[in-house]
Amino acid sequence: MSRRFGWLALYCLSVTLFTCLLFLKKETKPALPGGPGQVEGPVARHSFWAPPAPHRSPCLPNSVINTSTVLPVRHRLFLTYKHCRNFSILLQPTGCPTDTFLLLAIKSLPAHVDRRAAIRSTWGRVKAQGGRQQLKLVFLLGVEGTSPPPQLLLYESQEFDDILQWNFTEHFFNLTLKELHLQRWLATSCPQARFVLKGDDDVFVHVPNILEFLEGQDPNRDLFVGDVISEALPNRNNRVKYFIPTSMYRARHYPPYAGGGGYVMSQATVRGLQAVVEEVDLFPIDDVFVGMCLKKLGVKPTHHAGFKTFGIRRPLDPLDPCLYKGLLLVHRLSPLEMWTTWALVKDEGLRCAALPAPVQQSG
Ligand SMILES: *[C@@H]1O[C@H](CO)[C@@H](O)[C@H](O)[C@H]1NC(C)=O
Ligand SMILES: *[C@@H]1O[C@H](CO)[C@@H](O)[C@H](O)[C@H]1NC(C)=O
Ligand SMILES: *[C@@H]1O[C@H](CO)[C@@H](O)[C@H](O)[C@H]1NC(C)=O
Ligand SMILES: *[C@@H]1O[C@H](CO)[C@@H](O)[C@H](O)[C@H]1NC(C)=O
Repeated sequence: MSRRFGWLALYCLSVTLFTCLLFLKKETKPALPGGPGQVEGPVARHSFWAPPAPHRSPCLPNSVINTSTVLPVRHRLFLTYKHCRNFSILLQPTGCPTDTFLLLAIKSLPAHVDRRAAIRSTWGRVKAQGGRQQLKLVFLLGVEGTSPPPQLLLYESQEFDDILQWNFTEHFFNLTLKELHLQRWLATSCPQARFVLKGDDDVFVHVPNILEFLEGQDPNRDLFVGDVISEALPNRNNRVKYFIPTSMYRARHYPPYAGGGGYVMSQATVRGLQAVVEEVDLFPIDDVFVGMCLKKLGVKPTHHAGFKTFGIRRPLDPLDPCLYKGLLLVHRLSPLEMWTTWALVKDEGLRCAALPAPVQQSG
């Protein structure tokens, strides 16, 4: 009796094992490249028994940080990982044209598929008159969960060749990592770009006006132009997004910096920044971080009234096409507004009764 029970148990065990084996084999299939089991870009995830792929060791959290202080969670997280500055590239364009005049580097999020589509089909596809000035558009991305599925980004990358993605988590406080890694990518993959425009994915860039402005500039001389804020006070209210405690920034004012919505730099300034960004400690607010780097570099940012990174103040209508005739860049447009503005700006027959005052360069 006990022997029969033993055989039965053995039989059940082997059937279970066999079923498990079949099941596991089936489970591993989607993890192959291109399968739906992928989590990050084109790189397949490995099953637990597969030999680990060679990759750099993860950056460990800094345990010396005093986490008992009363800082908000995101600030503690930032301080804990502040020393982690090396992240690998997951997706990147195949290259940069040898005669790139203006590189348009636009900060986006993986989920902002609609904003990228709007940019690509409006101002992002402007070609300079006579094709003299080559433009290149790239979107700067980190990683952010599994929505949208990584296949979509991979598709965008293959179809439009404009995705530049790094392996760090998307977070407002990680935007400085985007700046640092963009500088490294520019140094290795697009050093020839004569000018670089960095901006958000909800800006309307009046490319012809930008090109006209840059026409008279020398890429070998320092140039950093945007909506410059001087003597900005760090926000000390810990319920505000931009809160910075004195323990993270002691001085009374920030150095002059350009609103992160969009600004333009020359090749000379980009080269200078490439060295400096490696020496400056990461700061949670990326546009202030760039201001700190410029200060160290000894380059004074120039204010230009044509950059409206804080939106347009009433009573001006953001959809008034005549307004755009004198502007370089306007912040905070939805994809629908982007298309509408584009259609209006492109309207050749348009008559502007009262043109706004011509853009003046101050500062
Ligand atoms: C950490 O910060 C708290 C509050 O500011 C302080 O009381 C404590 O002594 C600090 N600990 C260390 C190890 O610095
Ligand atoms: C990042 O890489 C640089 C050079 O590649 C190296 O000197 C530095 O130690 C690295 N930093 C970390 C935190 O791994
Ligand atoms: C991305 O980073 C994670 C750790 O955050 C690591 O496990 C993964 O292997 C990295 N992927 C690539 C392709 O480097
Ligand atoms: C920034 O990205 C790194 C790497 O993915 C992550 O460890 C860190 O928590 C992120 N920072 C914030 C504030 O989310």
